[in-house]
Amino acid sequence: MPFRAQNGSFCLSCQELLAVVLCTFLESGGIDLRDRSVIELGAGTGLLGIVATLLGARVTITDRAVALEFLESNVQANLPSALRPRAVVKELTWGKDLDNFPPGAFDFILGADIVYLEETFAELLQTLEHLCSERTVILLSCRIRYERDHKFLKMLGGRFSVYEVHYDSSKDVHIYKAQRGSHKDDF
Ligand SMILES: C[S@@+](CC[C@H](N)C(=O)[O-])C[C@H]1O[C@@H](n2cnc3c(N)ncnc32)[C@H](O)[C@@H]1O
Repeated sequence: MPFRAQNGSFCLSCQELLAVVLCTFLESGGIDLRDRSVIELGAGTGLLGIVATLLGARVTITDRAVALEFLESNVQANLPSALRPRAVVKELTWGKDLDNFPPGAFDFILGADIVYLEETFAELLQTLEHLCSERTVILLSCRIRYERDHKFLKMLGGRFSVYEVHYDSSKDVHIYKAQRGSHKDDF
């Protein structure tokens, strides 16, 4: 796959490691994404959104305006033409212009390595709350690097039921599932 990392080279860097762990989880975890509506937040290279599209989902792949040109070109380069209409690249800066996204319209919200800037935590949580309905499943792959990362998980737990559904000890990457209410059901 001619995947372009942010330095322009055709390889995956350690930056995409958390996305790789969540992609592997989606591919092997028995989650049926066929015809499900998915949004990816803070997509970066778009790897996760591309894999979700390849797994059959209709995916809105988002990031800040500054990241979109690179993201769009990666999506175009890595999806077969028949699947390209199923992946839409859109600007979504957390907490901003959320009305551009219908509330509660997505089955899954995906994010890889998006919990790292404390100044964005409130806006990220606001965005998740806007996008999430009772049926929406949030999946976040995270590496807990600093105390502030626990702070976000605590904030998340204040609004959603949060469970760790996978831990990759070789890469030290956690996958958390969050849902409104007290869901404990499987995917
Ligand atoms: C560490 S990178 C992770 C990229 C990708 N998900 C991955 O795993 O390779 C964090 C991403 O979050 C995005 N981001 C940071 N702050 C943001 C904000 N306030 N609103 C939307 N996206 C943001 C960045 O542009 C970047 O693409």
